[in-house]
Amino acid sequence: MTAVTNTSAFHRLRTNADYQAAYARSVQDPEGFWAAQAEEFTWKKKWDRVLDWNFDAPDVKWFVGGQLNITENCLDRHLAMRGDKTAILWEGNDPNEATQHITYTQLHERVCRYANVLKRNGVKKGDRVCIYMPMIPELAVAVLACARIGAIHSVVFAGFSAQSIADRVQDADAAYVLTSDGMMRGAKKGPVKAIVDEALKSCPGVKKVIVTKRTGDAVAMSDGRDVWLHDELKHVDADCPAEPMDSENVLFILYTSGSTGKPKGVVHTCGGYMVYADYTFRNVFQYEENDVYWCTADVGWVTGHSYIIYGPLLAGATSLMFEGIPTYPDAGRFWQVIDKHKVSIFYTAPTAIRSLMAQGLDFVKPYALSSLKVIGSVGEPINEEAWHWYKEHIGHNRCPIVDTWWQTETGGILISSLAGVTDEKPSYAAWPLPGVQPVLLTPDGKEIAENDVEGLLAIKFPWPSIIRTTYGDHERCRQTYFSSYKGYYFTGDGARRDAEGRYRIIGRVDDVINVSGHRFGTAEIENAINESEWVVESAVVGYPHDIKGQVIYAYVITDKRIDDADKARAEILATVTKVIGPIAKPDKIQFVSGLPKTRSGKIMRRILRKVAENELGSLGDTSTLLDPTVVDEIKAGRV
Ligand code: WT7
Repeated sequence: MTAVTNTSAFHRLRTNADYQAAYARSVQDPEGFWAAQAEEFTWKKKWDRVLDWNFDAPDVKWFVGGQLNITENCLDRHLAMRGDKTAILWEGNDPNEATQHITYTQLHERVCRYANVLKRNGVKKGDRVCIYMPMIPELAVAVLACARIGAIHSVVFAGFSAQSIADRVQDADAAYVLTSDGMMRGAKKGPVKAIVDEALKSCPGVKKVIVTKRTGDAVAMSDGRDVWLHDELKHVDADCPAEPMDSENVLFILYTSGSTGKPKGVVHTCGGYMVYADYTFRNVFQYEENDVYWCTADVGWVTGHSYIIYGPLLAGATSLMFEGIPTYPDAGRFWQVIDKHKVSIFYTAPTAIRSLMAQGLDFVKPYALSSLKVIGSVGEPINEEAWHWYKEHIGHNRCPIVDTWWQTETGGILISSLAGVTDEKPSYAAWPLPGVQPVLLTPDGKEIAENDVEGLLAIKFPWPSIIRTTYGDHERCRQTYFSSYKGYYFTGDGARRDAEGRYRIIGRVDDVINVSGHRFGTAEIENAINESEWVVESAVVGYPHDIKGQVIYAYVITDKRIDDADKARAEILATVTKVIGPIAKPDKIQFVSGLPKTRSGKIMRRILRKVAENELGSLGDTSTLLDPTVVDEIKAGRV
């Protein structure tokens, strides 16, 4: 092993040699390695042990016995040196609306005041708080206010339906909801509070709803339950000490879809998540003090948690928060915002790159983009064409691209090149970060030692922000991630390792569909479709799409009473929108009289996928089907 004498090399990896040395140490002495990172933070009480772990239970604990508050590290710690520096740079949906520059001092004060509003309304340490808000500063403030007092935030993306909110509120037994009156989105306004009201009809456990005014639209306020944030703020002061939290106390729950059942609440805890979000933010993006950093995700997804709020604020960065959409007022908006605020690090999703690529270069050319230093990608595989377009037309062949692979469950980036430090290769996420020990497995669980191979991607050692449990159902966590291959965390992804050891993520190997970087389980969508009045049964598969990566193809058996296919289709789309949200709507619906099932009743999705992809000649063995004739009907009826 290369000896590392300069410990700062562990914190900031500047050269490939730094990376190699840090990686080697992180494998040989993971506890020493992560303790050195953790020393950087403000702890209320130092840990007794760095790591306890066991992947069978699973039971993973980092910085055991330590106490901290993540907001003290995001805010208070920076006040002396960076009090006047912009923490959140907020850009509204409408380019003519004034930008907000919220300094670290101001953000600290707003978080403390909001935290006092939470306390005033009865929120206590350990309580679950559901946050359903558009991308306004109060969303970040609300998240941090929960963390300040040790309440557990559960952010629900503001594109999800009332029923999705209700499911999540009930699953987490949340007694508080933080929301806004409405939202601005492109040329339109949209309801927010009204959707919460609908959801809460089936959530009698909710005691308080705190509403931020954004659009000024009239909303119903339920007496005794709903309060306006601006009224509440009149009654509180700016003094709110940070609650001491055990390293392994829950910081947040974030729901994500799996291959079975309803979305599950992924649980992250305070200490390890903090250390890992900070370390990966600084190193992957090679963040420097004066950078202006912009991640275009929504805070409703894990990318927004780790790389709009926690990672950047832990590093004392300026994090740009954007309320709008990439195509309003036109498809040049991202590039206009980059020039306007001299953004130096830009992090977005392949689906956004592909859709803007499709709009043509006329929307890019007016902008210099000369402030950019690093550009990143996340959420789905980035195809080579999009990678090259991004590199050339946005990065001007000058900016390294980081293709960051990770998951809601991993809390932070696990595989990525380090911008300009380790090499990059189109469509490869490339190198495991220090502390991450990926393996490729055969379907029967054997580690593949060679390079230049494909296999199932698993991780054999815990990193600090690994999922701890699925809320309220630890067995589900064990089953989903730790039981398929004993002794490993199984990612659900397939990957290729090239001759030198770089990883390329191929995609999900389970029944999860990734539409524009959003994850859905086939069962979840089928259940939604099946709620439509005339639907008897359905099966959905993902199939490739030029812009969205994957889209949903649904095979549906309807009741004989409906003979108007257009009406049935419209009803199905409306039902999916109602049950999950518009982002889960199938692109194609094919009505069938039967589904290809084995004698044991299992749907052979392989066949359905092939038909959706129009690979009709290679359906494989269909002899185990209960009724092979349905295949001909399905082929003939392809839409
Ligand atoms: C799934 C996780 C991590 C934040 C956003 C998505 C896919 C994610 C990449 C990438 C190829 C990727 C994987 C993964 N994915 N990043 N850089 N290259 N695939 O989080 O909703 O939890 O989804 O997204 O399939 O398992 P998520």
